[in-house]
Amino acid sequence: MAHALKMTTKQDGPLIVLGLESSCDETAASVLRRDKDGRVELLSNIVASQDEEHRPFGGVVPEIAARAHMRKIEAITAKAVRESGLPWEQIDGIAATAGPGLIGGVITGLMSAKGLAMALGKPLIAVNHLEGHALSPRLTEDCAFPYLLLLVSGGHSQLLSVTGLGTYTRLGSTVDDAAGEAFDKTAKVMDLGFPGGPQVQKWAERGNPEAINLPRPMKGRDHADFSFAGLKTAVARAWEASDKSDTAKADLAASFQRAMTETMLDRVSQAMTLYRRKTSETDQARLVVAGGVAANTELRAGLKQLAENRTFDFIAPPLKFCGDNAAMIALAGAERLAAGLIDGYDAPARPRWPLDSAAAAKAPKSGFGKKGPKS
Ligand code: KG4
Ligand code: ZN
Repeated sequence: MAHALKMTTKQDGPLIVLGLESSCDETAASVLRRDKDGRVELLSNIVASQDEEHRPFGGVVPEIAARAHMRKIEAITAKAVRESGLPWEQIDGIAATAGPGLIGGVITGLMSAKGLAMALGKPLIAVNHLEGHALSPRLTEDCAFPYLLLLVSGGHSQLLSVTGLGTYTRLGSTVDDAAGEAFDKTAKVMDLGFPGGPQVQKWAERGNPEAINLPRPMKGRDHADFSFAGLKTAVARAWEASDKSDTAKADLAASFQRAMTETMLDRVSQAMTLYRRKTSETDQARLVVAGGVAANTELRAGLKQLAENRTFDFIAPPLKFCGDNAAMIALAGAERLAAGLIDGYDAPARPRWPLDSAAAAKAPKSGFGKKGPKS
C-alpha cells in the first residue's frame, strides 16, 4: 500500500537537500542549499567514478556497477554531508535518482535515500535522472524557463521543450543508439580506451575531419529525431578498410566527431524551428545542452555558433556538471521539495522512465520493451 507522507515542506526559508546519484557508473552525493528566490549554493559535491572497475571490459558491467555502488555509497554520502559543514538534522529532504538507469545501481541509491529519510524523519524525493540533467544549467546560471534542451548522454539523445519544473515536451529523440553510445562504440572499434567520448575527442584533435566520408543520418529531414546506428556501422567499415595506423585512428576519430557534430546541429536546427512555433516569436529563446556528451568541445562550439545564427541564447553547464553527478539530483530534489512535490517511501526504482511520458507512450522512438516505451 502507498505510504503517503504527512510532512509539510519548509517553504519560508532556504531548503537544504542531500542528493544521491547511482544510475550508471558514478556513485555521487551532494548537499545543496536553495533559497526561496531560487538561488542555489552547492555545499558539497562528491563523485566517485567506477571507470577503473569497468575499463577491463570496455563498457559498464551492470553487476559490477551495482556492487561498486553498494560498497561506496555510505562513505560518499557521509563525506558529502561532512563537507557541507552542516549537521544531518539540518537536511530538509533526501533526493535520489529513482530511474531511468541500470536497475541494480538505482535500487542501491534509492534504498539508501529511503533509509536516511526514514531515520531522519525527512521527506524523500524520487528524482528522474533525466530531469536532473535537464535542470543542470540552473546550478550555475540564471536559466529561467522556458528553454530548448539538447540532452545527449550515454543512454539518451533527446530534444525537449522545457517549460517548467516537470513539464517537458519531447520534440525529438533517437530511434536507435544514443549519442554517447555512438562515441563509446567508435572508441571500442578502434580500441581507444574507456570511457570512449573523451578518448575520441583527444584523438580527433590530431586528425583531419574531412579525411573519411561518413554519413550524416537524418540530415535535412523536417523532424527532430536522431539516428546513429548507420554512422556506427560506417565507422566500423572504415576502420576495417584502414591501415590501422595512428594517423588512421586520428583521421577516423576526427571524421566521426565532425559527422556527429553536424548531425546533431542539423537536428537541433530543426528543433529550433519546432520550438519557435510553440513559443512567442518576440520572446528571447534559449538553447541549453546537457548530459555527458555536452562535454564535447567541437559540439559546444558548433552549438554556440548555431545559437548565435538563430538568435538563441546559449547555455552549456561547466564540464563537471555535464556528466553524471549528484548536484543536479539535489537541485531537482530541492526544486520539487520547494513546490511541495514529495514521494512516498514506497517510491519504485524504474529502469525506464521517459521525461515526456505522454509522447513516449503514444510514439516510442526506439520501440516498446517489456517495461514500456524505451525512450
Ligand atoms: O551523462 P553521462 O555521464 O551518463 C549517462 O547518463 O549516460 O554521459 C556519459 C556519456 C558517455 O557515453 C561518454 O563517452 C560521453 O558521455 N562523453 C563524451 C565526452 N565526455 C563524455 N562524448 C563526447 N565527447 C566528450 N568529451
Ligand atoms: Zn546521465
